[in-house]
Amino acid sequence: MREPDVNAIREYWDAHTLGMQYVKDLSLEPGSAAFFAHIRQWMNPYKFPWIMERIEREAARLRGRHLLEIGCGMGFDSLEFLRRGVRVTATDLTPNAVRLAARHFELEGVRAESVHTENALSLSFPDETFDAVWSNGVLHASGDTRRAVAEARRVLRTGGRAIISHFYRKPSWMYLLSRWGREPIEHGSEDPPVNEFYRDEEILSFFEGFRVEEAVREHHRAIPVSKTGVKAALYTYGFAPLYNLLPERIALTLAYKLSVTAVRV
Ligand SMILES: C[S@@+](CC[C@H](N)C(=O)[O-])C[C@H]1O[C@@H](n2cnc3c(N)ncnc32)[C@H](O)[C@@H]1O
Repeated sequence: MREPDVNAIREYWDAHTLGMQYVKDLSLEPGSAAFFAHIRQWMNPYKFPWIMERIEREAARLRGRHLLEIGCGMGFDSLEFLRRGVRVTATDLTPNAVRLAARHFELEGVRAESVHTENALSLSFPDETFDAVWSNGVLHASGDTRRAVAEARRVLRTGGRAIISHFYRKPSWMYLLSRWGREPIEHGSEDPPVNEFYRDEEILSFFEGFRVEEAVREHHRAIPVSKTGVKAALYTYGFAPLYNLLPERIALTLAYKLSVTAVRV
């Protein structure tokens, strides 16, 4: 397999930290309290209620324990763990995300163990460092998903939990839309260099050396997007209302995301 171009991935995400595409008021200073409040409704875990439920469930188990977040972006997920008494090391590939996440925690009056850059494909931590690894919407964009899951396993203690949300799945409504529309409807004007869609069984095959506790299809309804323009209008007024008429059972077969919780054995 070809080595992933981590520099291209880093460059893209450094210029497009998740959340920047939702800023409608360009006078807001990135990293200010007003800035975070402005984009909050579009961010994990507020946009996706199942992510907040997962944080609450996991935080209740992990209170006082040490969780690593891989690909923290602006730190909204880590913030919720910190608020619930979990010790958090928050990491991302890009300096901009790390800067924003650190500022975010400072503004919210919470303290992480560390906030720094890390590459999911070669983490700097010794084996068996963490009680849990949390990663949301990241590993399929890392350049080598299998290796990233193996790295998460390496840094987990035996019995430690990998909570990896939002792998992109196929077939799914977003897979079809992004193929027909030539871009995922969620991103800004430019797509990330890597954004793999996988079949459920491929995703589960990444979890070697784990006992999978839960694998759940999520995002099986088309929800509002903040993007504007012709494609977004077609999505909002054409595709979404029609798609959302599908019965639950059928919509679930076309769910956009698969989230996996697995225990290191
Ligand atoms: C879609 S964003 C998700 C951010 C955050 N988890 C959230 O939900 O707001 C993907 C993130 O993964 C990070 N990322 C991509 N490849 C990575 C890698 N190899 N190692 C660590 N982080 C990576 C990007 O920098 C970006 O912040």
